[in-house]
Amino acid sequence: MNSRDLITAAAQGKSTPRPPIWLMRQAGRYMSEYQSLRKKYSFMELCHQPDLATEITLQPMKTFGMDAAILFCDILVTAEALGRDLDIVEKKGPVIGNPVRSEKDLNELLPKDAALENLGYVSTTLRQIREGIGAEKALLGFVGAPFTVGSYMIEGGSSSSVPVTFKMIAEAPELFKKIMTRLTDLTIDYIQLQRDAGVDALQIFESWASILPEAIYLEHVFPHLKRIVETCQNPDQPLILFALATPSLWQTLGQLPAQVLSIGPEHDLAQFRKAFPDKALQGNLDTRWLLCDQPTLIREANIVLDKMAGQPGHIFNLGHGITPNVPVDQVRTLVDLVQAR
Ligand code: CP3
Repeated sequence: MNSRDLITAAAQGKSTPRPPIWLMRQAGRYMSEYQSLRKKYSFMELCHQPDLATEITLQPMKTFGMDAAILFCDILVTAEALGRDLDIVEKKGPVIGNPVRSEKDLNELLPKDAALENLGYVSTTLRQIREGIGAEKALLGFVGAPFTVGSYMIEGGSSSSVPVTFKMIAEAPELFKKIMTRLTDLTIDYIQLQRDAGVDALQIFESWASILPEAIYLEHVFPHLKRIVETCQNPDQPLILFALATPSLWQTLGQLPAQVLSIGPEHDLAQFRKAFPDKALQGNLDTRWLLCDQPTLIREANIVLDKMAGQPGHIFNLGHGITPNVPVDQVRTLVDLVQAR
């Protein structure tokens, strides 16, 4: 089985001779090739220019040969496409200069079709990546879930407690709902844009799922995510749902018709396998093991592999993205270990 077939089969919950592997944030600052390009261009320039985004996507594929390439871009480009100013600032993270906090701000958002047109570069990039990786590697697209993107759009940047969003949900729930609806509508079409450009599967990032009290999440956020997953489910181009969520919230998220659940390092894969027998599972090595010495990394990666040995539907990945301080040799060790199974 080639890499592409491994990913597709595993995502559809089938048995594979070995688990396929890719890593969240596999292209990025831990690689010197990325850093040299990043010295010349801003992060947003790298996302917007298909030649550069393709080159970066291919860097880890050439160096380590993961089974899947993931589009180099960011989840916040949907907010940008709706007319928000997005910048990624060193040591600060994403900054949105004109956050959406009122009906007036909402009315300034661009119509969906204009926003989708603004995302046309992603389609070009995906087609170029496919040419670069060939037919035997898998190509993954991704989108941010409306709350994870929306909270940045409302806060104007990173926040560990989303106070402005929290207050909006409490005091102006209709405004919040309209913002979420606009993002949801665009995200559904953006998923189709990526599918039309040839992705084999698509990951939805709901990274901030558990930043809200569960009851608030379920009432004000979950219906939008549900609409996306239900509208976009497609057995031939599976959806991978990534969330950092409590076990209790996963009980609800896991009922959505996404074929793959991508779980954080705090959860036990074997327990998830029992709780969700019909789902494929992705993950969930703790990224920090990549910072430990090689024997420790091998030991821990084998624990993850052994938990899922003989089980259908496992895609090996980290529980969250690679951090810039990870040594490249450790990434090589990990990819080689999983592929030698
Ligand atoms: O997995 C991949 O490699 C695909 C590309 C990708 C990036 N960001 C590249 C990136 C994906 C899927 C994301 C998702 C993303 N972006 C999320 C959800 C996933 C998660 O990790 O929880 C979120 C919340 C964002 C928003 C975002 N973009 C943040 C918080 C940051 C700053 C990170 C930091 O450490 O400074 C970004 C910038 C960003 N996105 C970088 C990369 C490689 C670093 C940019 C740089 O400075 O060169």
